[in-house]
Amino acid sequence: MDLTPDLQLNKELFGNDFKWGVATAAFQIEGSHEADGKGLSIWDVFTAKKGRIKSGHHAMDACDFYNCYKDDVALIRELNIPNFRFSLSWSRIMPTGQLPVNQAGIDHYNRIIDFLLECGIEPWVTLYHWDLPHALELKGGWTNRESINWLTDYATVCANSFGDRVKNWMVMNEPSVFTGAGYFLGIHAPGRRGIYNYLKAVHHVTLATAAGGKVLRDIVKDGNIGTTFSCTYIEAASGSKRDIAAAKRVDTLLNRAFIEPILGMGYPQEDLPVVRRMNAYIQPGDVEAMAFDFDFIGLQCYTREVVKASFFTPYMGARLISAKKRGIKTLTEMGWEVYPESIYHLLKRFNEYIGIRKILITENGSAFPDVVTDGQVNDTLRTKYIQDHLAQLLKAKQEGVNVQGYFVWSLTDNFEWAEGYHARFGLIHVDFETQKRTIKQSGLWFKEFLE
Ligand code: NOJ
Repeated sequence: MDLTPDLQLNKELFGNDFKWGVATAAFQIEGSHEADGKGLSIWDVFTAKKGRIKSGHHAMDACDFYNCYKDDVALIRELNIPNFRFSLSWSRIMPTGQLPVNQAGIDHYNRIIDFLLECGIEPWVTLYHWDLPHALELKGGWTNRESINWLTDYATVCANSFGDRVKNWMVMNEPSVFTGAGYFLGIHAPGRRGIYNYLKAVHHVTLATAAGGKVLRDIVKDGNIGTTFSCTYIEAASGSKRDIAAAKRVDTLLNRAFIEPILGMGYPQEDLPVVRRMNAYIQPGDVEAMAFDFDFIGLQCYTREVVKASFFTPYMGARLISAKKRGIKTLTEMGWEVYPESIYHLLKRFNEYIGIRKILITENGSAFPDVVTDGQVNDTLRTKYIQDHLAQLLKAKQEGVNVQGYFVWSLTDNFEWAEGYHARFGLIHVDFETQKRTIKQSGLWFKEFLE
């Protein structure tokens, strides 16, 4: 594998304590959607609806991680990856989303955790990676303020069940994405639309994030408690005042609106006027209750967006100009531009928040149309993507940014939400007909790098 000559990456440059890992999520890999008493989640229901997922794909089997976890964990070990991030399926553990607990669900995750530890791999657990129990959606889902209590009850069960062995926790995965796509645009589960659904969901998710963090800190001894946010480097399409103002609004929505209340700064209403409508849902004491001093903040960064002012976009007055329209040649399967400098700019920027103790990149990766030829997958673009992002991360670190980990998204190709199986993000290729795994060149490069 040819490394760009001036990179000369080696893991020692990142320091001995730097956490190297790989990330996954329950719904995207597990399959077995009704096994051992599991309840349905909003994603089980959403994928069953016609026309929601590309090519009608569903995740009833996904990567069959539910049954194959030992083989996949063996692959993690084979790739020399010391940390594994995965999420718990709430509806396996609490089929209705509320008590009672389904012991079979707890047992299942106990087996995975124990096996990871036996293999010398550190578990990093996400409580909520988008698969809300369907029974809770029937009660309003995240638009119901009760959702804060549902989440804290679930967090309590998980912390009590696994906190003796799992020390690294993340409460939420990318709240801006699941609220935006799921409650405003309706393109992700539960498929709801509209500004009022959205703002309510955002506020309750924010309160639940802090409340979940408090539960984990109280119960897990010596815990390393975090939560994750997606972030995207934003640039204005031109130097015009209107484009610059539009870019600022988009930046505020994507990079500030979710983290600032957690840092005790409230919602950035000045720079994003639509958020003022949130005041209708904010109760006395909420601003304090939204704040929590997480041990770490997980950032997940994939690309940059270029923004233009637009009269036709309600609430934001801005639109994104796709990478394709901008004439960018190398696009990922998601249509995203490969722009490694994003991670540098974002790290520098988030590092300026005094409330952030440390940052980990809890996801970064790319999807390309990989094929297996003679038993090999020559995904040179993915390898280069990871190397270039690591080089930018290192630059930020050497300039003093407190970034202490990097997790590749993802271990294996998996169910990429509304894109179905079309977007392959794995270091390991999966043939979804046979469940055969093939380590890609990127996986082999990572293995060698981590040796
Ligand atoms: C972020 C999400 O957390 C993950 O579920 C998704 O597959 C990746 N980004 C890639 O889109």
